[in-house]
Amino acid sequence: MNFNEELAARTEGIEKIIRKYLPKEEGYQKTVMEAMNYSILTGGKRLRPMLMQETYRMFGGAGQAIEPFMAAIEMIHTYSLVHDDLPCMDDDEYRRGRKTTHVVYGEGMAVLAGDGLLNYAFETAVKAFEMTETDGERERIAKALAVFARKSGVYGMIGGQTADIEAENMEGRVTGEHLLFIHEHKTAALIQSAMMTGAILAGAGEAEVGKIETCAHHIGIAFQIQDDVLDVTSSLEVLGKQTGSDEKNKKTTYVTLKGLEQAKKDVEKLSQQAVAAISSFGKRNEFLEELIKQLITREK
Ligand code: IPE
Ligand code: IPE
Ligand code: MG
Ligand code: MG
Ligand code: MG
Repeated sequence: MNFNEELAARTEGIEKIIRKYLPKEEGYQKTVMEAMNYSILTGGKRLRPMLMQETYRMFGGAGQAIEPFMAAIEMIHTYSLVHDDLPCMDDDEYRRGRKTTHVVYGEGMAVLAGDGLLNYAFETAVKAFEMTETDGERERIAKALAVFARKSGVYGMIGGQTADIEAENMEGRVTGEHLLFIHEHKTAALIQSAMMTGAILAGAGEAEVGKIETCAHHIGIAFQIQDDVLDVTSSLEVLGKQTGSDEKNKKTTYVTLKGLEQAKKDVEKLSQQAVAAISSFGKRNEFLEELIKQLITREK
């Protein structure tokens, strides 16, 4: 199988897992469930569950307990997008090739759908406990949950989104260090969450998890730089979200700070560092290595 076929097959497998864990649209709260499912169901690349699953496989993981975590990380990520697109944040109209949740369901319901996905992520992840019988495995799940929670919160993604919003309209006053904090937290933290929980659930040791955290940091920063690049160079048709969002919101991005050419070079450099790190373990996962390389030239 070539890489693209392999990628399509794995993405399909992830779709099935995500679907299995979504709420049924019923009861007086049906609308919020519809809005949650609308947000999560179509068009995402599913990168975070994929990185989680591949890291799990790399460390020899083969059980079922990874599946609720895979669905859960996509719920956290999707909630971050639903809220990120709200008029009070980036005010965007398209996401994953469709109208954003607040455009379709209204702002109140979009806030609640985001909240619903955030909470449902934890309701889902704890189901991993039902899939295990040994104390050792239960301990790994508890450890994974702690990382998962922290990387999503004020010391992770929410912290980055806070700094991102506050850095609007600060042209010329956002330093490289400040922007790195934003990228590390708003984006790299969830990539770290994905890969670290995959490693922990597979039984990786502390030193290995630490190396994975560094590797995922490189991937996450490269990923956000490329997102900043595509916001300037791509189109709604290819990207599934409107371009020019950063300029509209007067954001300082890697592109405004360093220029397009330097941004592209740095994506490549960071990705190569990530590949070098991931291939330095005793265990190898060729698909994962190729996936990281392919992200350098991603167009969406
Ligand atoms: C978009 O993430 C938000 C960023 C952190 C840049 P993705 O580019 O992974 O979005 P989807 O999940 O494929 O829609
Ligand atoms: C978003 O960064 C990171 C999140 C935590 C959602 P952006 O605001 O650049 O993401 P897009 O471009 O809207 O997907
Ligand atoms: Mg944003
Ligand atoms: Mg945005
Ligand atoms: Mg962006």
